[in-house]
Amino acid sequence: KQDPRIPKISKAIRVIPDFPKPGILFQDITTLLLDTKAFKDTIDLFVERYRGKDISVVAGIEARGFIFGPPIALAIGAKFVPMRKPKKLPGEVISEEYSLEYGTDKIEMHVGAVEAGERALVIDDLIATGGTLCAAISLLERVGVEVVECACVIELDGLKGRERLGDKPLFVLVNAA
Ligand code: PRP
Repeated sequence: KQDPRIPKISKAIRVIPDFPKPGILFQDITTLLLDTKAFKDTIDLFVERYRGKDISVVAGIEARGFIFGPPIALAIGAKFVPMRKPKKLPGEVISEEYSLEYGTDKIEMHVGAVEAGERALVIDDLIATGGTLCAAISLLERVGVEVVECACVIELDGLKGRERLGDKPLFVLVNAA
């Protein structure tokens, strides 16, 4: 049975057609952030799921994983690690390249932010093709971190992002077309 908080979270997400290009239905979570009840419920649903699971790292993906990740990390007593676009982090980084529809992109993490053997949750606002989450998982696994689960507010159905994650569990609150 669906949690009664979910439909209100879903309604608080604004959908903007033709952004950033014609034909794209953009899922805008900034309106969710304006709804104090729905925003709190969003964080609470993640915290309820991950509290007590021995997770020491919440890894958030730029940019909107930086909005949802830190309150979850604070509530479950984990550290927050930003996974950033290239050339943003000032220290020594390790990076992982991933493919886009046209070309490639990269995410980076500071060396020393995590230790081998830690247990991590990876958080972002949305999964589309799954390329970004896959790269984040690879990056963490390369340094010996166990990725327990990935979590997103929204899953875009039809892009098969979940399949790209293989058997890595993915938890989402809202599904969208
Ligand atoms: C969006 C979204 C995810 C990613 C998902 O970020 O916030 O991070 O795309 O796509 P994928 O599953 O196909 O990899 P965006 O590229 O808009 O970057 P931004 O958050 O920096 O604006």
